Amino acid sequence: MTQLTHRPRRNRKTPTIREMVQENRISLTDLIFPLFLIEGNNKNSEVVSMPGIYRWSGDLLLKEIEACMNLGLTSFCLFPSISEHLKDKTAKESLNENGLYPATIREIKKQFPEAVIMTDVAMDPYSSDGHDGFVKDGKILNDETLQILAQMALVQAHAGADIIGPSDMMDGRVGVIRQTLDDNNFTEVSIMSYTAKYASAFYGPFRDALDSAPKFGDKKTYQMNPANSREAILEAELDMNEGADFLMVKPALSYLDVIKTLNDNFNLPIAAYNVSGEYAMVKAAAEKKWIDGDKVRDEILLSIKRAGASVILTYFAKEYAMSLKK
Ligand code: PBG
Repeated sequence: MTQLTHRPRRNRKTPTIREMVQENRISLTDLIFPLFLIEGNNKNSEVVSMPGIYRWSGDLLLKEIEACMNLGLTSFCLFPSISEHLKDKTAKESLNENGLYPATIREIKKQFPEAVIMTDVAMDPYSSDGHDGFVKDGKILNDETLQILAQMALVQAHAGADIIGPSDMMDGRVGVIRQTLDDNNFTEVSIMSYTAKYASAFYGPFRDALDSAPKFGDKKTYQMNPANSREAILEAELDMNEGADFLMVKPALSYLDVIKTLNDNFNLPIAAYNVSGEYAMVKAAAEKKWIDGDKVRDEILLSIKRAGASVILTYFAKEYAMSLKK
């Protein structure tokens, strides 16, 4: 007999032992389900490039949230699709307390106070320029944008948001938002900062869903260069010092190393956004029967967790919850 002292296969010999030594697991409470909101009543439409993902009018969105909560999902991130005629250069509609977004948040928190509602702070859904910041002479102005973002966060906090998610990548926004929330007695409202948000082609289907693509140029003067990881540490230091409660990496799959770097270096919970394009690729390949979509989904979620994200924003949340019921 060969004298092997180490036989790692012993820990893989039965399903029970494999489970016993399993290092990472996905629980439903790790997941945040992004949801798209549209105007109107009793309306929904599937996002063409995201099979299984719908834009919902407020009334149907409430039903969707209820269905998700019955499956054990607890947390939701809302994105509004704003009519073109309400868009302008200063994203004025984002500060309308009675606008689609705040009104829907209020209704959700009234009906489901225990649901965790995360909101999106950025100008792009409301901006006629389609950029996350205020545009002048073709430039995205940082400091002029900060006040708009802070007021937007305040409107969302008033409406009942539990977690504010600045997705804009302006410098200094976490600090200004934190200060504004605190000055208005919203000390308990959390900030999940899109800390390392890369200028990524993986956002394509999301921009289709919201009609929010930039009207000129790209987002490279504010979103990060995919080639960089040390810069993510710089962003994380700033966000932590400015008062962020969570640090997010986005997208997730091409940036697992960045998730790990932040998790190794910062004692805040790390979140990862498994974005629209990552979802779309799996769905497209599964539709062609080139991959087993369910197994790939589970492997992807685990890989993000293993890299060090304790929170995952993912369009797979509901179908993953449903798969556990089977
Ligand atoms: C914009 C925003 C984007 C996403 C979330 N917030 C797109 C962008 O930066 O253009 C993308 C999410 C996804 O692709 O799933 N503030």
